[in-house]
Amino acid sequence: MKISILGGGGFLGQRIANRLAREGRLGNVAVTGLVLFDIVPPRPIDGAAFPISCLGGDLVDLPASAIPDDTATVFHLAAVVSAQAEADFELGRRVNLAGTDAVIDRCRRLAQPPRVVFTSSVASFSGGQGARLTDNARQLPANSYGTQKAAAELILADATRRGFLDAVSLRLPTVVIRPGRPNQAASGFFSAILREPLLGLTTNLPVPDDFEVWICSPRRATDWLLHAAAMDTAALGADRSITPPGLSVTVADMLAALEAVRPGASALVGRVPDAAVAQIVGGWPSGFVPSRARALGFSAHEKLAELVQAFIDDDLVATLADRAIIR
Ligand SMILES: NC(=O)c1ccc[n+]([C@@H]2O[C@H](COP(=O)([O-])OP(=O)(O)OC[C@H]3O[C@@H](n4cnc5c(N)ncnc54)[C@H](O)[C@@H]3O)[C@@H](O)[C@H]2O)c1
Repeated sequence: MKISILGGGGFLGQRIANRLAREGRLGNVAVTGLVLFDIVPPRPIDGAAFPISCLGGDLVDLPASAIPDDTATVFHLAAVVSAQAEADFELGRRVNLAGTDAVIDRCRRLAQPPRVVFTSSVASFSGGQGARLTDNARQLPANSYGTQKAAAELILADATRRGFLDAVSLRLPTVVIRPGRPNQAASGFFSAILREPLLGLTTNLPVPDDFEVWICSPRRATDWLLHAAAMDTAALGADRSITPPGLSVTVADMLAALEAVRPGASALVGRVPDAAVAQIVGGWPSGFVPSRARALGFSAHEKLAELVQAFIDDDLVATLADRAIIR
């Protein structure tokens, strides 16, 4: 099976690529080739038993080589993320909408319709603090990024109905702890308040301690994306979008988990309100009742303390090296 990862140089793209390289299969099928495509050529992945090409280019002018003719599975992760899409309307619209159109156009030209796993977002909903949305909740996005994600879900569902491809859109929670450096997502501080203290650095918290957020770990997000790529889609019918089973936690819960794993670390978090960030993340629902995902075999979430420990086990050394931090 040949696989392409669009946005293959990003955080989740690299996680999926590493898992595929390590396991050599997707579900029960052996991987025979992988393309990693991003705006600049992604970092090569070590240790794979199959060939990997790392290509640079713009999603909107998608080269055929990004999704070769015999591709069976496409992970469409390339995106302009939340705060950047809100700050730069043209860029967000171009990449998140026209880019998704380009993916559909390329998939239409393949001999066999590929599985397309698309990363939608909790930001495609609104509802704010205290919300508990069920699988039938309407998407009423409160920002341009969420609107672009919801629109992309719809055109992918229509492309599925037409037989151009076989889409599964996962409405991912905020993924915590993001390793490396801060990015341009409005939700970036949810990772920073755990990651920076674990690196021995100070950081700012822009929302109150009782702010509630819907999150998942990188391990769980990767598992879900691989499950979405391998699952039988017959049970989905016309509804190609799934809210996976994340965790609803408060900032105080997150800081308590940090303290449990690294006593004293939460003292490095300063309270500095930021109205612009609070407005974006405050529009997102703080919880879901993800019954459909559970029935479709998406794995349940681990406890918060395990999520913090997983950063130490999986990412701390690489993040220290990446940021040239000497301890
Ligand atoms: N990380 C999260 O918390 C989270 C939550 C919900 C949804 N998502 C979605 O999951 C996906 C992956 O998230 P991530 O955290 O890995 O993001 P990321 O920013 O690390 O990766 C996205 C990649 O897309 C690439 N990209 C942007 N514009 C491009 C273009 N014009 N052409 C080619 N590549 C382009 C970027 O260079 C980047 O490497 C995104 O679609 C994001 O919107 C992420």
